[in-house]
Amino acid sequence: MKKLLPLLTALVMFILLPQFGAHAQTEDQCISCHASMDDKPSAAFRSDVHRSAGLSCADCHGGDRRSDDMEIAMNKNKGFVGVPKGNAIAETCGKCHDDEERMRKAGFKGETGQLKALRASAHSFGTKATDALIMQCTNCHGAHGVRRHDDPESPVSPLRVVGLCSSCHSNPDYMRRFNPALATDQLAKYRTSVHGMKNGAGDTRVATCADCHTGHSIRPAEETTSSVNAFNIPTTCGRCHSDADRMKPYGIPTTQLAEYKSSVHGKALLEKHDASAPSCNDCHGNHGAAPPNVESISNVCGTCHALNAELFRQSRHKVEFDRMGKPECETCHGNHGVQPATQAMFSFDRDGVCGKCHGPDRAPVGYKTALKMRSMLDSLVGTIAMAERRIDEAEQKGMEVDDIRFALRDANQARLQSRTAVHAFNLEEFSKVLDPGLRIATTSLSDANAANEEYVYRRVGLAVVTLIITLTIVLLFFFIRHIEKKQAAV
Ligand code: HEC
Ligand code: HEC
Ligand code: HEC
Ligand code: HEC
Ligand code: HEC
Ligand code: HEC
Ligand code: HEC
Ligand code: HEC
Ligand code: HEC
Ligand code: HEC
Ligand code: HEC
Repeated sequence: MKKLLPLLTALVMFILLPQFGAHAQTEDQCISCHASMDDKPSAAFRSDVHRSAGLSCADCHGGDRRSDDMEIAMNKNKGFVGVPKGNAIAETCGKCHDDEERMRKAGFKGETGQLKALRASAHSFGTKATDALIMQCTNCHGAHGVRRHDDPESPVSPLRVVGLCSSCHSNPDYMRRFNPALATDQLAKYRTSVHGMKNGAGDTRVATCADCHTGHSIRPAEETTSSVNAFNIPTTCGRCHSDADRMKPYGIPTTQLAEYKSSVHGKALLEKHDASAPSCNDCHGNHGAAPPNVESISNVCGTCHALNAELFRQSRHKVEFDRMGKPECETCHGNHGVQPATQAMFSFDRDGVCGKCHGPDRAPVGYKTALKMRSMLDSLVGTIAMAERRIDEAEQKGMEVDDIRFALRDANQARLQSRTAVHAFNLEEFSKVLDPGLRIATTSLSDANAANEEYVYRRVGLAVVTLIITLTIVLLFFFIRHIEKKQAAV
């Protein structure tokens, strides 16, 4: 019996299979009849991803696919809907593509929910099902001859999608009808960026319009759910720039996102939700994404830190750094990993911020000045700290110290200003800020000392007074006793 089983199966298959085949062929009369007319839809449908998945004309247009009579096949009573128009197009596609269960049953592993996403996007006049869409699925994917999104022939594949988005977005006449305020220079700028140049040369790994904006959930940057909203940009860029495999051919670091997250800027934006801190695109531009080059780094930083940049530009360092081909702010602060600036930056080890260039025998003029600046700073910071300690002591003893504390605020203010003033890298300028601060701190310190001394003086005074009072009481006591004794005797 065991030996017979395969034989039997083969026999059954032999009888049944041709029937199945013939049935399958005759079953889809829509395709057969339309193919015989050699019309465009059926010609294009030959390479359609839906056809390979076993779908047919009737899955979108309705009708009876088994009848070879066009009156029956394309009868409204058989569910024929004809050619969908307007939103009905996207609804036709959404019938399947927004039905997660149906798509998974068909073996589809990609994303679902495109119609819902499109409705909530900038490419729709509203989010309700009745609101008109600015475009239909077919504007981007076509209706017949639909390809997988990464198929090079697909209009949404990396090398073609840029042209697709730009067909509208670089057309001022078209765009003006919807939003006259919207720029139409994205393609022009993109073509000047590293992304755009490489995309133009056939590189499919670089960012396209759809990589930054997504394909369906495209939203204005102001909306917090937009992939290009300042708070989401680091993740959008980091998806590729932290991906070692994708970036391998280029030999550039993949640490930007990690460093950025640990920086003052990243922490301010992502943890403190401080929108004034820079996201990736504030330094790199939106469409012209390129590393800021040596000359423009201080301009980039200077858009926010204007005074630092202004002072630096007039400093001797500007001349010296240009000569050495060193980037301006980045040489001392780094780019992605900018850390809080502290006094410790005045460090003269070989790998310290100043020590990189300055030593007794390297750039010695600056070395001497920098040492002096450092010691001035140390004495200001030291004096302020000592004054604060003495003020606290006096306060604990109950002394009135508000005025001294108030005065010391100006010294702290000078310290704060010195952090900016240092960028002139000029002793005179530095002194102008530090010296008054040091004077105030010294005065505050001596006032605080005085308050503490006053306390001692008052304590001694109090002790003497207490002693006198006690003595008086004792004397009074004996005096009264003496009088009482006298009266008793009488
Ligand atoms: C026997 C041939 C035949 C069969 C079967 C057939 N069609 Fe057609 N179909 C035609 C012809 C011919 C036209 C053009 C006639 C016209 O313009 O009215 C047409 C037109 C269409 C149109 C365009 C209608 C319009 O309003 O412009 C669609 C859509 C269509 N067919 C889909 C289908 C679908 C879906 C099926 C299967 C359920 C099907 N056809 C079956 C011959 C056929
Ligand atoms: C994935 C859904 C889908 C499938 C499958 C499909 N169509 Fe269409 N078809 C559409 C949509 C949507 C439109 C109208 C919108 C457009 O062309 O932008 C359309 C338009 C048409 C039109 C009229 C406009 C034109 O392009 O000439 C005809 C005819 C047509 N289809 C026939 C067919 C035939 C025949 C088949 C099968 C070989 C087929 N369609 C398969 C979605 C589909
Ligand atoms: C503005 C152009 C545009 C429109 C409109 C559009 N798509 Fe897409 N579609 C894309 C791009 C670009 C991709 C590839 C990148 C991506 O997945 O975001 C894509 C990818 C897809 C994928 C593959 C998803 C995956 O993960 O494999 C499907 C399915 C899809 N689109 C269906 C639709 C449907 C259905 C509609 C209409 C409701 C639609 N698209 C409207 C541009 C568009
Ligand atoms: C009857 C259900 C159905 C309808 C209607 C339908 N699709 Fe699909 N579509 C599928 C299935 C199933 C697949 C997956 C094919 C596969 O993975 O082999 C698919 C695949 C796709 C893909 C390729 C996804 C990828 O991997 O990149 C795109 C793009 C697409 N459809 C767009 C459309 C558009 C546009 C429409 C409307 C004009 C539409 N579909 C209508 C069922 C449908
Ligand atoms: C490297 C990522 C990236 C790429 C690639 C990219 N964009 Fe953008 N795009 C952005 C960012 C970020 C913004 C938001 C800027 C802001 O904060 O206002 C933006 C804004 C826009 C806007 C709103 C108007 C404007 O210019 O600010 C449009 C429209 C737009 N992009 C279209 C496109 C098109 C079309 C392409 C392809 C040619 C493209 N983008 C490629 C990141 C990108
Ligand atoms: C059929 C024309 C067309 C195509 C194709 C198209 N767009 Fe648009 N896009 C528009 C119109 C129209 C608007 C709405 C402008 C408005 O009302 O503000 C828009 C809005 C946008 C916005 C929002 C701009 C803002 O800040 O308000 C972005 C971003 C955008 N599109 C990017 C893309 C990308 C990326 C692609 C390609 C995947 C693309 N578009 C394809 C026409 C198009
Ligand atoms: C789809 C993946 C992808 C996305 C998303 C992406 N990039 Fe890129 N980017 C690349 C690739 C690949 C290169 C090419 C690297 C090269 O040529 O050295 C590149 C190059 C760059 C460069 C030039 C590096 C160099 O070597 O000169 C900068 C700067 C850059 N990207 C910044 C950004 C920023 C900022 C964003 C987000 C707004 C972003 N990228 C989004 C993939 C991406
Ligand atoms: C505060 C400004 C600033 C921010 C924020 C910023 N960058 Fe940069 N980025 C720079 C500077 C400056 C350079 C180096 C240019 C040079 O030295 O030529 C650079 C270089 C790059 C490069 C080239 C390779 C490298 O590492 O030198 C890439 C890629 C890059 N940045 C991506 C990003 C990404 C992704 C983000 C967000 C996570 C980001 N950048 C945030 C300023 C910034
Ligand atoms: C979009 C505006 C913006 C840009 C561009 C920018 N920064 Fe900042 N930066 C900020 C903000 C806001 C903070 C304060 C963050 C916080 O809350 O601590 C900051 C903080 C800093 C700090 C720490 C200050 C401190 O008090 O310790 C340094 C150093 C710094 N930035 C250097 C740079 C450098 C270098 C660049 C260029 C590579 C740059 N920044 C570009 C906005 C910017
Ligand atoms: C030669 C090294 C060096 C260069 C170049 C440099 N800085 Fe600084 N930066 C410092 C030092 C040192 C401090 C002060 C640390 C302290 O005293 O606590 C500082 C402090 C800062 C601070 C915090 C204080 C404040 O003003 O808010 C910012 C922001 C800053 N720098 C930005 C910049 C920018 C922008 C550039 C480029 C125009 C730049 N730096 C160039 C060394 C440098
Ligand atoms: C990239 C190299 C480099 C770094 C880093 C650097 N300097 Fe300089 N600096 C120079 C050069 C070169 C000169 C001019 C030659 C000389 O001083 O002998 C100079 C000059 C100066 C001067 C001006 C001297 C004068 O009176 O004309 C001062 C002040 C100074 N540096 C302070 C600093 C401080 C403080 C730091 C650290 C926070 C620092 N520098 C970091 C290269 C550097």
